[in-house]
Amino acid sequence: MKQMITLEVNGERHELAVEKDATLRDVLHDQLNLDGPKKGCDTGSCGCCTVHVDGLAVYSCMRYAVACDGAKVLTAEGLSAGADLHPIQQSFIDAGAVQCGYCTCGMMMSAKQLLDETPRPDEEDIRHAIAGNLCRCTGYAKIVDAVKLAADRLAG
Ligand code: FES
Ligand code: FES
Repeated sequence: MKQMITLEVNGERHELAVEKDATLRDVLHDQLNLDGPKKGCDTGSCGCCTVHVDGLAVYSCMRYAVACDGAKVLTAEGLSAGADLHPIQQSFIDAGAVQCGYCTCGMMMSAKQLLDETPRPDEEDIRHAIAGNLCRCTGYAKIVDAVKLAADRLAG
């Protein structure tokens, strides 16, 4: 049986009929066609589904969509302003932190929360912030470089 919920996703309001056991990730992907929140483990272990809910980075596979009724959700797609990439997105590209890309959207959302709260993070802060996001490709060093570069760019 479906339930009506309202979500503001990347600045747009949506009224959605969702199954009571549908996860936020599946609603974002299947009903709103957002490809950023990836389906990885689906058990809260890999972080590739990370989005922001009311400003906090969460695993969207671990939230029921009905529990997010009324929330503001930000996905990686919502970071950019039109054709202009967000400094976090551009820095991941410039630092060579994107290989297969499967982890990247989740990584960027964890990085965004860090940089929202700690504009000048050190390496330990960065590694702590992305500790819940697994990457099979990069060895993490370039991701750390990307977050440092983003911090520099955001600080101007
Ligand atoms: S798919 Fe959500 S944490 Fe892995
Ligand atoms: S770039 Fe492939 S999993 Fe991170």
